[in-house]
Amino acid sequence: MNTILPVAIQKNPPKLILLDQTRIPETETYLALDTKESIFEAIKKLRVRGAPAIGIAAAYGLYVCLVQRSYADIDELRSEFQQLKSYFASSRPTAVNLFWALERMERRFVQEAAAKTKHIRNILESLYIESVTIFEEDQSMSRAIGEHALSLFDASRAWNIMTHCNAGGLATSGYGTALAPIYLGIERGYRMSVYANETRPLLQGSRLTAYELMKANIDVTVLCDSAASLVMREGLIDAVIVGADRIAANGDTANKIGTSNVAIIAKSFGIPFYVAAPTSTFDLKTATGKDIVIEVRDGEEVINGFGKRTGPVGAKVYNPAFDVTDHSYITAIITELGIISHPSTERVAEHMVKAFIKR
Ligand code: MRU
Repeated sequence: MNTILPVAIQKNPPKLILLDQTRIPETETYLALDTKESIFEAIKKLRVRGAPAIGIAAAYGLYVCLVQRSYADIDELRSEFQQLKSYFASSRPTAVNLFWALERMERRFVQEAAAKTKHIRNILESLYIESVTIFEEDQSMSRAIGEHALSLFDASRAWNIMTHCNAGGLATSGYGTALAPIYLGIERGYRMSVYANETRPLLQGSRLTAYELMKANIDVTVLCDSAASLVMREGLIDAVIVGADRIAANGDTANKIGTSNVAIIAKSFGIPFYVAAPTSTFDLKTATGKDIVIEVRDGEEVINGFGKRTGPVGAKVYNPAFDVTDHSYITAIITELGIISHPSTERVAEHMVKAFIKR
């Protein structure tokens, strides 16, 4: 099991603790942040990244920033809460878990502020509890996703699994999403190997996925993104599992740029393509993938990545950070509640009803 924790909270003095993922694989350096600007910067610059981890960091960050000063009354606290919430929400646009976590914190705030015994101290304490609950639920969600996903794999044979980007422990608080069945499977004696696409331009596959799997002694091979078709043709891949940043109501899935290429190639070779994500990654207000906002990042990441100039100064670059995989390419979406085979609007809705009943 992965032993790296990407995000944590320190209560006294209040700090958001983040593993600086921009420095992996060279070094595991933890940052202790307590200003809104440094927390915003850490999310924007991908020091913390991966949809669930971004949500946890924003919830913790909200508490850490709010608890450091005093307030004349609840209205002043409310106004500070709203400003911080909007500020953190503007850090990255695609991963819906960011908005989900901030809205969950807001619901808790409203609930607590309406209570008879409303005290600023109690409201702040309840926000702390809510943020820790988001973290703990994420841990159990990862495990449940792993359990459901593992039911798709037969223990009697070996499996070679391709993944894209990093949807492992570094992107969540626990086993990850796409990597959860691999961690669980290996624990239970399954024979599983991973092919990690390097994931241009920021190399989350080679820097992060290969790093955390090697740390857990799991067999991993790094591939250029453009090798996907060849390795599938060579019969080296049995299944693809990826994470998600946002899943629309019809099952269309936004994930790291390059994911849809893999899905299209997998379908043409008859290889199952699975998306593993918690129900907090579904955005039912978004009907189809066409309506998902795609983050466009600085072109320098493409032509001057990691400080190495690989394109002429001033070259025009288009650098979308995510793409959308049409639901027709997805064999199944695996959540903490079970499996949605061949996702469609009806099947997603049916599955999400279970999530609402549970809440
Ligand atoms: O830009 P990133 O590194 O935050 O992108 C992350 C991904 O695309 C992950 O696959 C996704 O967030 C799922 S993480 C469980």
